[in-house]
Amino acid sequence: MDQHTDKETSTDTHRSLCWWQRAVIYQIAPLSFQDSNGDGKGDLNGILHRIDYLTWLGVDAVWLCPIYPSPMLDFGYDIADFCAVGPQFGSLADFDRLLEALHRLGIRLLLDFVPNHTSDQHPWFKDSRSSRQSPKRDWYLWVDPAPDGGPPNNWLSRFGGSAWEWDAASEQYYYHAFLPHQPDLNWRNPQLRAAMADVLRFWLRRGVDGFRVDASAVLAEDELLRDDPPNPSYNNSVPPPERFSRVFSDNRPESLAYIADMRAVVDEFPDRVLAGEVQGAIDRIGRFYGTDRPAFHLPLNYVLLDTPWSAINLQAKIDAYLNAIPHGAWPDWIIGGHDKKRIADRIPAGQERIAAMLAFTLPGTAFFFAGDELGMRGVKIPSDQIHDEFEKRVPGYGLNRDPERAPMRWDSGPKAGFTTGEPWLPLGADVAEHNVTRLQNNQTSILWLYRRLLELRHKHPALTAGEYRPLRSINQILRFERVHGESALLIALNMSSEPRRLETARPNQILLSTELDREGCFDASIMLRPNEGVILGSSP
Ligand code: GLC
Repeated sequence: MDQHTDKETSTDTHRSLCWWQRAVIYQIAPLSFQDSNGDGKGDLNGILHRIDYLTWLGVDAVWLCPIYPSPMLDFGYDIADFCAVGPQFGSLADFDRLLEALHRLGIRLLLDFVPNHTSDQHPWFKDSRSSRQSPKRDWYLWVDPAPDGGPPNNWLSRFGGSAWEWDAASEQYYYHAFLPHQPDLNWRNPQLRAAMADVLRFWLRRGVDGFRVDASAVLAEDELLRDDPPNPSYNNSVPPPERFSRVFSDNRPESLAYIADMRAVVDEFPDRVLAGEVQGAIDRIGRFYGTDRPAFHLPLNYVLLDTPWSAINLQAKIDAYLNAIPHGAWPDWIIGGHDKKRIADRIPAGQERIAAMLAFTLPGTAFFFAGDELGMRGVKIPSDQIHDEFEKRVPGYGLNRDPERAPMRWDSGPKAGFTTGEPWLPLGADVAEHNVTRLQNNQTSILWLYRRLLELRHKHPALTAGEYRPLRSINQILRFERVHGESALLIALNMSSEPRRLETARPNQILLSTELDREGCFDASIMLRPNEGVILGSSP
């Protein structure tokens, strides 16, 4: 594949990086990508059907949200069998075919690994629940009631209400950090840990290139079951599940040891990657790379999604993050995801292209979510079509994750090319404007910008292996350099909706403008248009 050969012509340092360090990773929620059988829900054969799009776009890897058998109460994060493909997504044979096809094209595949909980329909839980004597009883967290018969402590589920669910038959409570239908696994149990290591091996042997580990900071809870203290920032506008600070139910130090064990399993296989959903403030992200033993290669960093959008704020947060991770740790950047409001809804209108240029030129691995490249916004979901249990259980706080999970738009046909049936979530009103076919036909579209940025990353080692040199952001222009050997690239992003003059020390060449309508040389001063970003190389 020519994309592959392109990557191989790069310099030595660039080549000595691992594939995942150079990569831009494309997150696909299979349910929402492409339906192949008319049931209105996306599936694995649908992804295979769109594989040419992935190569056209130039992504290095895809990460698939869960594809396992599941009652689908939590978008597939309620798993009933870790080592199978859910019939709604296809079969293991479909999976193998997709993996092989991706590999043939030089595209890697990451799966979602969900270690914190199973579905209550998982045979392990059914067994565990069947009696206090079950050999799997201790694979979950079963606890006697408090003296008054109520839950053992005040821990709250993130999805509303107590985190303890009463089981009348065996007269104990079980713990669930999320839905009652998602009982937490007990990672203190060595047999459970061994079984989960085998789940990882099952997929690694099949050839997957790594995992994104779900909810990894919540793996362990306090052994003494101490009550969580009140949350000092709690008020009426804060969702009730946040009434207490999760000091004892979350982010326990033990979790890190379990993550390091997962890493050891992944390291049994060459060239694989472990990325992890972690929580908390920037200053805590560093330890998820591992303290005494390696943990995640890539603890996922949501700074670009969570920071108010201005040059000064972003520069401060980017530099704080880069300072917070250990020396030699590889950074990463995310601009979309299935739990996060679309980037286009978070930032001032017109800045969507800047977001892409920023994420793909900062030092590190970049992630984006299918649909971001179309400039997609969250789709309005009528109240009678809400799927997300989070919104149903904690209504009124804007927590619904359906808007960003709406189906991908492929063309301006009646079902946007996503399905021939009834799409499982509405497609949205602006399909005619934001769809792949239309944007592919316009070489200055945002979709082409994504493609050109990925192409440039493959061509210029400075963008992957280059040193990062922040420059002071002035005049709402965020600026930094990426320097690699003789090559120095200057990235300058106008974060305002007004023209801004950029002065540089030397004549420059525009390698790429977010507007895709100008290239070439200019002297040491250039007018950036409103919301325009540029990647500049030195003129010969
Ligand atoms: C993670 C997933 C989210 C899910 C939760 C419970 O945070 O990203 O979608 O609801 O775990 O599994």
